[in-house]
Amino acid sequence: MSKLWGGRFTKPTNKLVEEYTSSIGFDDRLALQDIKGSLAHVDMLGKCGIISQEEAAQIIEGLNIIQKKVENEEVTFSVEHEDIHMNIEKLLIDEIGPVGGKLHTGRSRNDQVATDMHLYLKEKTTYLIQLVEAVQEALVSQAESHVETIIPGYTHLQRAQPVSFAHHLLAYFWMFERDKERLKDSVKRIDWSPLGAAALAGTPYPVDRKMTAETLGFDNVYPNSLDAVSDRDFILEFLSISSILITHISRLSDELILWSSQEFDFIELDDAFCTGSSIMPQKKNPDVPELLRGKTGRIYGNLMGLLTLLKGLPLAYNKDMQEDKEGMFDTVETLDGALSLLAPMLASMEVKGANMRQAVNEDYSNATDIADYLAVKGLPFRQAHEVIGKIVLYAIEKNKYLLDLTLDEYKEFSELFEKDIFAKLAPEQVVAARKSEGGTGFEQVAQQLELAKQHIK
Ligand code: ARG
Repeated sequence: MSKLWGGRFTKPTNKLVEEYTSSIGFDDRLALQDIKGSLAHVDMLGKCGIISQEEAAQIIEGLNIIQKKVENEEVTFSVEHEDIHMNIEKLLIDEIGPVGGKLHTGRSRNDQVATDMHLYLKEKTTYLIQLVEAVQEALVSQAESHVETIIPGYTHLQRAQPVSFAHHLLAYFWMFERDKERLKDSVKRIDWSPLGAAALAGTPYPVDRKMTAETLGFDNVYPNSLDAVSDRDFILEFLSISSILITHISRLSDELILWSSQEFDFIELDDAFCTGSSIMPQKKNPDVPELLRGKTGRIYGNLMGLLTLLKGLPLAYNKDMQEDKEGMFDTVETLDGALSLLAPMLASMEVKGANMRQAVNEDYSNATDIADYLAVKGLPFRQAHEVIGKIVLYAIEKNKYLLDLTLDEYKEFSELFEKDIFAKLAPEQVVAARKSEGGTGFEQVAQQLELAKQHIK
């Protein structure tokens, strides 16, 4: 099969080379963006008199036919034509004849592929923002039912202080909010058109780059043709943002896995989101959050892969850059899968509020509040801390919790104790007392929930 660039060659390409250098196995994902870019380009060629209006119209008609065929999955792409750009151009020439060969006037695959990826990532970023928001909605809906559900709060995975379960869920809401903000902000830097930079130096044809940028919905044109074809920062940025996002997904997944273990027994994931064991009939495994946690590795890998690829690349285009795509596609597809599952899995999980509450009954996480009690009565906090440490040790030895000790026992440690200490130690009171801004006090959490809701829709 003859190559679109075959003129300079005397021998056919080695078959292995053809396969090795081809990207059609993955860049076929850019087919629609490629056609969109070509439509904008050829329309501009016609309007600027670079080709005739008639020729432009013929090419546009041909591209529209190919677009339909692509949408209906009626085309087959071939390795012989290397990548999506030359495959589409070949289909066009087959469809409308030699006039199709005018499409590539004043353009190179280098600005073409960059344009395709800008279009692709802008669309996908907007789509992923919606998916992140769906996860936030699921968190908010669970949080709404659990403002007054009390769960142990941990540091070092040791019981620390009780918190509202809604507060815990909303912590993730704000992480996802920052992810969403980062994704939104990144669109500013995706929104630049490389089209018209041509191979690297610009083109002698009087192309109108602003016109194509506008047709394609880009806010700006790259002011430097070398930068336009060499820049992959927008993909690096996307992969960085995605790495942070999947980190949040992974941390949340890890908690879901812990909480659904028999040891914690704080939640139960819906049957529809779990799988069984081929040998142990009793098992109900949290495969989905485990995989979400596991997907982190590939996204970090995609980021490191592209950073490494770009480091040390001279300007302008180098074939190495063909390797920029699979990690980007993989990251988009991995996040799509992850976020699409996370939202319904969160919304459908059963929260075992009674077990959470029972856990709080069986720990010493109200100890800080006894220290505060003495501190309010004038004892320096450091001394109060020491006294309560001794009380906790005493209670552990007696096999009791802090609420089980009598006032007389408390008085052994400090004369400052009165019977109002017991009201202060009730977990509801311990949580409610944390009224500082952003704290877990029930009223503060209710306010936080209202604020959260303003950030979705
Ligand atoms: N398939 C190529 C890529 O993805 C398109 C650009 C090819 N440009 C070139 N000068 N060989 O990078």
